[in-house]
Amino acid sequence: METTDLLLAIVHHILVFSVAALIACESVLTRGELSAAAIKRLAGLDRHYGILAMLVIIVGVGRVFYGLKGWEFYVYNWVFWAKMVSFLAVGLLSIIPTMRFLSWNRQASANASFTVPAAELSSVRFYLRAEMVGIVLILIFAAAMARGYGY
Ligand code: HEM
Repeated sequence: METTDLLLAIVHHILVFSVAALIACESVLTRGELSAAAIKRLAGLDRHYGILAMLVIIVGVGRVFYGLKGWEFYVYNWVFWAKMVSFLAVGLLSIIPTMRFLSWNRQASANASFTVPAAELSSVRFYLRAEMVGIVLILIFAAAMARGYGY
């Protein structure tokens, strides 16, 4: 149905751009020294990132099955699968930052003089940048697949 397709498309766009915004926020917040408050904020943002990523999967699968084009349009299309692999890669890349934020938050709560080790901070920044590259790839694949490329 056209209304279902429209609603799924609207929610999908809002979710994916929120996910991208959260990665950008995390990237900005991990610049320079981190206060305990900043670490707490990062852990909170990252929790929302995880929830939104789950919703992206649910709504994305909804678009495949309830979208106007029908599931056959996507499952035989390699650009769609390239988009899925990129999405999975972004998910895997986000594991290390999530684990670091949780660990820093735990340590900062237990010890007021805790400072984030520089090597851990720069590795988290590396993973966040790699996630951004993944998002750019997803956007390229999304635009191509929506226009029928990939057969
Ligand atoms: C962060 C992850 C994602 C981003 C940034 C993203 C981005 C986009 C964008 C921008 C479009 C619109 C393309 C256009 O009309 O030009 C789109 C469409 C779509 N996406 Fe995603 N997406 C993501 C994840 C997913 C996932 C996980 C799924 C499925 C499980 C999915 C399924 C779809 C479908 C079915 C369409 C409709 C394409 C069409 O109109 O034929 N997306 N996506």
